[in-house]
Amino acid sequence: MTETQPIVNTHQSEAWNGYEGEHWAEHHDRYEAMNGGFNDALLEAAAIGPHDRVLDIGCGNGQITRLAARRASLGGATGVDLSRPMLARARSLAAEEGVANAAFERGDAQVHPFPTGGFDVAVSRFGVMFFADPVAAFGNVRRALREGGRLAFLCMTPLAETDMGALAAALPPLDHAPVGHDAGPLSLSDPDRVHEVLGGAGFHGVTSRKVEAEQIWGRDAREAGEFFAGWGPIRHNYGSGDEVREAVTKAMRPFERDGAVRLRSTAWLVTARRA
Ligand SMILES: C[S@@+](CC[C@H](N)C(=O)[O-])C[C@H]1O[C@@H](n2cnc3c(N)ncnc32)[C@H](O)[C@@H]1O
Repeated sequence: MTETQPIVNTHQSEAWNGYEGEHWAEHHDRYEAMNGGFNDALLEAAAIGPHDRVLDIGCGNGQITRLAARRASLGGATGVDLSRPMLARARSLAAEEGVANAAFERGDAQVHPFPTGGFDVAVSRFGVMFFADPVAAFGNVRRALREGGRLAFLCMTPLAETDMGALAAALPPLDHAPVGHDAGPLSLSDPDRVHEVLGGAGFHGVTSRKVEAEQIWGRDAREAGEFFAGWGPIRHNYGSGDEVREAVTKAMRPFERDGAVRLRSTAWLVTARRA
């Protein structure tokens, strides 16, 4: 696909093509260590068969696209994302790993002109929480699925239910409402909202269940604190001063165990299908 595809989530596009996307692309291995513990649950729920054509929404650096492509050995997987730096990383990792049936396109999943009925299954690991109009976006994904096609994705649970909540509580109090509750990482953290959005987008048989994974943030609190201080939501909410880095490093210390900083995290695993 060319660079002429429509983009309506312009703020997200700026963020993921700016600092945030650069950070994810540069630290792709760190983000995989954080989120990779959820892969098996997602891929099992997606039940990808050898002939499937898989769409990975908000594919980022493309780990799930590559894993899906390996399962769909006679079909293939297409990752779609707004972020040029992450797509560049995704393409180079797929080439390095020799995954020839993984393709990547730049596009805004809310309005991207996917081939109608062109996919058997759509998946996403934390890439569907940023749409300004989620009903329109999931409606667009539904049209991209064939009749009976499946949707399986992971989205964040409320922070308070995870070790991230303890980390957040250890940070200095905010003097403004936290960024990220509307079209941000926590926008689908209420399963009632997820059911409402997917129902509104025309999906059937919506299920959601909580899954748990250990996230590895770094070898020790210092390294993890450095990384966490650079993470987009922390930068957006707290800025980037030494004080923030020191606070997050201190907050990481209780989670140092067996040579790593390990956080218990949960996610909603959501499934649905096109009728
Ligand atoms: C939290 S990251 C997850 C990336 C990847 N799925 C992973 O698990 O590593 C969210 C991703 O969604 C992408 N994204 C956000 N809004 C999008 C949109 N409207 N269309 C396509 N991608 C989008 C971002 O560029 C980013 O790569």
